[in-house]
Amino acid sequence: MHTYMEKKFKRTLVTTALPYANGPVHIGHLAGVYVPADIYTRYLRLKGEDVIMIGGSDEHGVPITLKAKAEGVSPQDVVDRYHNIIKKSFEDFGISFDIYSRTSSAIHHQTASDFFRTLYDKGVFIEKTSEQYYDQEAHQFLADRYITGTCPHCKNEHAYGDQCEACGTSLNATDLINPRSAISGSTPVMRETKHWYLPLDKYEDFLRQWILEGHKEWKPNVYGQCKSWLDMGLQPRAVSRDLDWGVPVPVEGAEGKVLYVWFDAPIGYISNTKELLPDTWEKYWKDEETKMVHFIGKDNIVFHCIVFPTMLKAEGSYILPENVPANEFLNLEGDKISTSRNWAVWLHEYLEEFPGKQDVLRYVLTANAPETKDNDFTWKDFQARNNNELVAILGNFVNRAMVLTHKYFAGKVPVCGAMTEYDTQTLEDFKNIKKELESFIETYRFRDALKEAMNLARIGNKYLADTEPWKLAKTDMNRVGTILNLSLQIAANLAIAFEPFLPFSASKLRKMLSMPQCDWNRLGDTDILPEGLQLGQAELLFEKIEDAVVEAQIQKLLDTKKANELKNYTPQPAKANISFEDFTRMDIRVGRVLEAERVPKTTKLMKLKIDTGIDRRTVVSGIAEHFTPEEVVGRQVSILVNLEPRKIKGIESQGMILMAENADGKLVFVQPSAEVKNGSQVR
Ligand code: 2FM
Ligand code: ZN
Repeated sequence: MHTYMEKKFKRTLVTTALPYANGPVHIGHLAGVYVPADIYTRYLRLKGEDVIMIGGSDEHGVPITLKAKAEGVSPQDVVDRYHNIIKKSFEDFGISFDIYSRTSSAIHHQTASDFFRTLYDKGVFIEKTSEQYYDQEAHQFLADRYITGTCPHCKNEHAYGDQCEACGTSLNATDLINPRSAISGSTPVMRETKHWYLPLDKYEDFLRQWILEGHKEWKPNVYGQCKSWLDMGLQPRAVSRDLDWGVPVPVEGAEGKVLYVWFDAPIGYISNTKELLPDTWEKYWKDEETKMVHFIGKDNIVFHCIVFPTMLKAEGSYILPENVPANEFLNLEGDKISTSRNWAVWLHEYLEEFPGKQDVLRYVLTANAPETKDNDFTWKDFQARNNNELVAILGNFVNRAMVLTHKYFAGKVPVCGAMTEYDTQTLEDFKNIKKELESFIETYRFRDALKEAMNLARIGNKYLADTEPWKLAKTDMNRVGTILNLSLQIAANLAIAFEPFLPFSASKLRKMLSMPQCDWNRLGDTDILPEGLQLGQAELLFEKIEDAVVEAQIQKLLDTKKANELKNYTPQPAKANISFEDFTRMDIRVGRVLEAERVPKTTKLMKLKIDTGIDRRTVVSGIAEHFTPEEVVGRQVSILVNLEPRKIKGIESQGMILMAENADGKLVFVQPSAEVKNGSQVR
């Protein structure tokens, strides 16, 4: 049993981090934020509770403006494009937002603007003038990301003003050697600019009390990060920027300034609630009986636990989050997911390649969710969980119960007769599942909750395997009826238990079982399906995923890796100069390969017989990993013929074949582009 302090609330407001609309969403987003939030929300809805789930795209910030600039389109074009892609991906995966809106909307601009103005009028902000880089050609201040230059640590010439991506060091724009504007390429100058700061330091005591004393039940990763921020001491944070994309700062003399994206984005939760419920939104935001829960990834913790609560507290009329169950990161095949390196499984691509298999991904991402530490998604694990768990346990059990009922009882729920001790014991086993599931879900332990739901399927599977109704069909149909009745009741329980996790499959199952709706409160009951009820057709809930399918996915990632390596390839610097005489001393000819064979007991070496035009000679070459002897025989090649002979593996090698080595280590022949006479000179 898990104990947790529970205040009583009347309703729940679930918010989900607003993803930046500068790229599509991938499995990391789903695993970290949207699937857990969806499980939580669906569960509460199923219990009949008052809950809303708020989502939307985060459409401001410098990266979006940079992308627009690079593509020669407007920032609005960029966010329009990705907002629609992201929204569709979420819909496709059954993420059941009550609203999925966006921060470029008019209602958001108004809400964020008003929020700032309220704090401004209350005198919350500090106004400060500081020096920042200014681009005299583009006539604008430069955000740190807009400045590139040489990293003082590793000398990478393409470091950004906030970070060097080559060595990972965080930088200030003023650290860069030889700074340049990313907009005009000119050298920026320092100029004074005024900004508004949220004095977090003044709220430190309140935050300490509220989090460190009041929310000890928060996940250790979240609580720990908050504590370390608080222990380091908080500083005032600028909430405005010199930029022309975002919510304008609603103060006189603030032309050319917008709210910092991290100031307006969380207000997006409020704007979107307003858009959803224009008349009643306040009840979700301003009533102490509302439980607000922020679902986010770990990189967002400081904003949701420290900055946004400070904003809400300073405003004065809002509630604070009751919990912030942030997740760690999901890696992909051992590497950090990265949009710029295309190291991701994109949701829209997954659906093209695995149509109808949303629940498989939801299952794997939940079973493997990065709840307490970073976790790894691998295609092998994806396949194994599908084949060994979804197909072999859940799908198999449901299918057997359905097929047998159709076979022996024309698809009608049979009468449940006298129960054996074994029956009673089986039912006993799954009675606790409701309590366990609830306790796990309510404490944001979705992996454990899923395991618990799967155990219910295991119980069913074992029950059928142990009772073997197909063997009793000739002798005791009453007993068969009882077994199948109980099996179907377990299946009905599965439809309820899995609804939050696997909504597509649960709904398919419900249709098969002719269950009009699902009520969480009936979980654990053994009379959900009335005797005599006509069932629907048996359908397979899951299908096996073959090796070739996951191997193709792994190959796709390997190709990506290769492409990235090629992109990052920097050629060796040139060697020291040589004289023309040095050059002419090399005698390079075109020859033809007459014979080729691998050198025994080596992997790399091939023994070649070459017609050099001058003579026929033997050369040992390190090409055996790249070519077969058959591919080599008959080719014209370039050969350095006056290289001192030397013994390689006991064979005298007389010369050297010239090869070019690609960035990925692949070797190709340097050969004439048209046939020439053997013995022709290369010079
Ligand atoms: O990290 C991100 O992707 C941010 N766009 C999350 C914003 S969450 C909220 F504040 F809107
Ligand atoms: Zn560096």
